[in-house]
Amino acid sequence: MAGIVQPSRRLSPLLDERRVVLCVGSGGVGKTTTTAALGLAAARRGKRVLCLTIDPARRLAQSLGLEWSANEAREVEPEMLAAVGVPPRGSLTVMRVDTKLTFDSLVKELAPDAERRDRILNNVLYRYISTSLAGTQEYMAMEKLHSLRDDPRWDLVLLDTPPTAHALDFLDAPERLVGAIDSPAIRWFVQAFQSSGKLSFNLLAKSTATLLKGLGKLTGGGFLEQVAAFIAEMNALFGGWKKRADAVAAALRGPDVAYVLVTTPDPLAIREVRYFAERLLGERMRVDAFVVNRKNPSFPNEPTHAAEVLEALGLVTSADMVQKCAEAQKDAARLAKLDRLHLLSLDGIVEETGAPLVSVPTFASDVYDLEALRQIGDILAP
Ligand SMILES: Nc1ncnc2c1ncn2[C@@H]1O[C@H](COP(=O)(O)OP(=O)(O)OP(=O)(O)O)[C@@H](O)[C@H]1O
Ligand SMILES: [Mg+2]
Repeated sequence: MAGIVQPSRRLSPLLDERRVVLCVGSGGVGKTTTTAALGLAAARRGKRVLCLTIDPARRLAQSLGLEWSANEAREVEPEMLAAVGVPPRGSLTVMRVDTKLTFDSLVKELAPDAERRDRILNNVLYRYISTSLAGTQEYMAMEKLHSLRDDPRWDLVLLDTPPTAHALDFLDAPERLVGAIDSPAIRWFVQAFQSSGKLSFNLLAKSTATLLKGLGKLTGGGFLEQVAAFIAEMNALFGGWKKRADAVAAALRGPDVAYVLVTTPDPLAIREVRYFAERLLGERMRVDAFVVNRKNPSFPNEPTHAAEVLEALGLVTSADMVQKCAEAQKDAARLAKLDRLHLLSLDGIVEETGAPLVSVPTFASDVYDLEALRQIGDILAP
C-alpha cells in the first residue's frame, strides 16, 4: 500500500491542478478537518481558497476567528494566516452553506413570476422539503458548489460534505431529489388534484380515497390541498430544475473535480470508502486520493524494551512505572497492528485506482487550530 504513495507529492498535484476538491467519507472520520487542512495547505501555496461547509465544526470555526451567518463568505484574518506561512497573495475563506437559503434562491431564480415564487416559498410543505427531506442537504451543497465553482474570486473551492450516513448519497442527491418530485406516485397525486384546487376523490381508487380523506382529517383542513398545490407548482418549475440538477450532476463528474476519500482504520468507515471508490470507478470517474485519518502510529524501530531504556536514562524510576510503560507500549503496538489488518482490505481498490493513500496519525488532542491544521496539511500535501 505504502509503495503506491509518492511521498514527495501525495495530494499536492490536486491542490495545484484542480479547481474543485470534494472530501467524502462517513460520519466523523475527519472530513471537515481534512478539508480545512487541505484548504490551508493550498493557501500556503499562494492560492485563494474557498472552503464550503454545511456543518462547521464549532471549535474549529472559533479558533479561526469566524463567527458568521449562513451563505456569507468569511475570510480568515490575514495576520493569522501569515503566522502559519500563508503568503500575502494566498487567502482562506469559509462559507457555511444553509440548505434553506440556498433552496430559496434556487426557487427565486427558477420561478417565472413573483406570485408563483411566493406561493412556493410560503407553502408548508416547502418548508419541510427545504429543510428536512433526505437528500436536500446534499443536493443544496452541490447546488452551492456549482454556483461558485467558476467564481473568479477563488482559485480553488473545497467542499466539506455533510455527515451523511452513506457517502454515496452525495452522488445520487441531484437525481434523487428531482426523482422524488417527478415520481409516478406524485404525478398520480397531482392528477387527482383538480384545477379548482380541491382533491378529486372520484379519480382515486376507493381505498385510496378513504385513506386520503382519513389523512386529511388527521392532518387538519387544507393540508392535502397544500401538498397537491405545492407539487403542481414544483412541477411547473420542474423543467428548469431538472436541467439544473442535470448540470449539477454533470459538473460533479467533470475532470477539474477531485475526490478525496477519507476514512479511519475503522472497518465500517473503510467499507464505505471502498463502496464509494468502486462507484466512482463504475462511472468511469477518477478516485484522486485516499486519506486514512486517525491512524494509530507504529514505531517499527523503537526498542521492544522501551521501558527499560527509559529506566536506564533515569526517566522512569519505580518498578511500577516501568511496568506501566511496557504495557502502554504493548497496547500501542497492538492498536497499530489492528489498524494495519483492517486497512489490508483497502489494498485492492487503492491499487485499482492508482490513487495515493496518505495516513494521518491520531493527534494527542482534537484538531481545531491553525497550527494543527498546518501539520496535517504538511502530511497530506508536503
Ligand atoms: N488526526 C486527528 N487526531 C485527533 N483528532 C482528530 C483528528 N482528525 C479529526 N479529529 C477530531 O475528530 C473530530 C471529528 O473530526 P471532523 O469534524 O473533521 O469529522 P467529520 O468527518 O467532518 O465529522 P462529521 O461527519 O460529523 O461532519 C473533531 O473533533 C476533530 O478535531
Ligand atoms: Mg464535518
